[in-house]
Amino acid sequence: MKKLAILISGRGSNMKAIAESCQNGVLKNIAQVTIVISNKLNAKGLQTAKDLGIPTFAIESKSITRKEFDQKVLTLLKATKVDYILLAGFMRRLTKGFTDTFPKKIINIHPADTNQHRGLGAYEWAWKNQLPSTKITVHYVNDKIDDGQIIAQADVDLREAKSLQEVEAKGLAVEHQFFAQALKTIFEK
Ligand code: GAR
Repeated sequence: MKKLAILISGRGSNMKAIAESCQNGVLKNIAQVTIVISNKLNAKGLQTAKDLGIPTFAIESKSITRKEFDQKVLTLLKATKVDYILLAGFMRRLTKGFTDTFPKKIINIHPADTNQHRGLGAYEWAWKNQLPSTKITVHYVNDKIDDGQIIAQADVDLREAKSLQEVEAKGLAVEHQFFAQALKTIFEK
């Protein structure tokens, strides 16, 4: 069983989807979420993780340096000995020292083709540009924003979407299935 840490900053719907797929879906008997860490004390996803019985930690990143934050996360991760670190709506760049400690073990989901759009607001970008489709990207993480080698991408058909909310709903529905599926492929290699 692969032990997973999930880093979040907010709602945590992707974290929930991964945790549920470990409990009862495509990742059952393959992986388990052993720790959820948020860089925001009030992240909604913390309660969701607690409700799922997962140990949670919040380290407020606002008033500490990037290096200090990463060091605190590293200490937690070393104590729990995780195999992979997943970024699921984790909106903070990691230091090179941190990413170099876990080569090909940190994986992010981004709701756009990272060759075309990185950072915040990917669904707003797709909606504003009236894109007929967008891509969900699962990729390895380096010290730059939404950069790193692409592992897999999934198309989202947006032609029927009539609002930003519909764009996001269509995208998230794909994210919630696709992240777990992409992880399963990696873990079974
Ligand atoms: C998701 O759409 C995720 O792909 C995106 O933030 C949202 C988090 O939602 N991540 C990025 O934009 C990374 N640059 P969630 O907290 O409900 O999973």
